Amino acid sequence: MTDKATKTEQDLLHVMLTAEEIAEKVAELGRRISADYAGKELLMISVLKGSVVFMADLMRHVTVPSSIDFMSVSSYGSSTVSSGVVKIVKDIDIDLAGKHLLIVEDILDSGATLSYLKQLLNDRSPASIKLVTLLDKPSRRRADIKADYVGFEIEDEFVVGYGLDYDEYYRNLPDIGVMKPEIYQS
Ligand code: IMP
Ligand code: MG
Repeated sequence: MTDKATKTEQDLLHVMLTAEEIAEKVAELGRRISADYAGKELLMISVLKGSVVFMADLMRHVTVPSSIDFMSVSSYGSSTVSSGVVKIVKDIDIDLAGKHLLIVEDILDSGATLSYLKQLLNDRSPASIKLVTLLDKPSRRRADIKADYVGFEIEDEFVVGYGLDYDEYYRNLPDIGVMKPEIYQS
């Protein structure tokens, strides 16, 4: 990363989604999820680290009895081309049999990681598995996977903030935005 980068909101070319717009959407997703799971219990699974911010906000808009857990995976292969083969760095400790799982993701891109993860969780006999993603880049999809709940469909631009990182920074920004090109070109 160039030393021109301040690693703050100043490095954004423009804000794509403001904190207010995100909050409104997250509340709406929470209402839909709560209605769809009425009478059931939910296990929300956050895929570290990007979805932590979204998970923290979303879970407070879910009104059915819920628990949470976290998984951490790392992709093999280069950082730009996701191979679809992932290594489980941190797994879930509890038995998933008969549980209603909701995978919580920050962004659905090629879908390689999630497609693998969904298969892996499915093999543990849950009652159901659904996927909620705050952002969806459908133009980038390579794997056969669709989210059940999508916050925003976005163009193929690299975005940061609200949990999403570039080189591990910017996750703490309250807005989601596109970075200035000169930050990459170094
Ligand atoms: P994929 O769907 O397997 O290609 O990988 C999705 C992951 O790539 C996400 O969980 C993010 O960590 C990362 N990612 C994809 N697009 C972006 C972006 O625009 N900004 C930040 N991270 C991204
Ligand atoms: Mg990430």
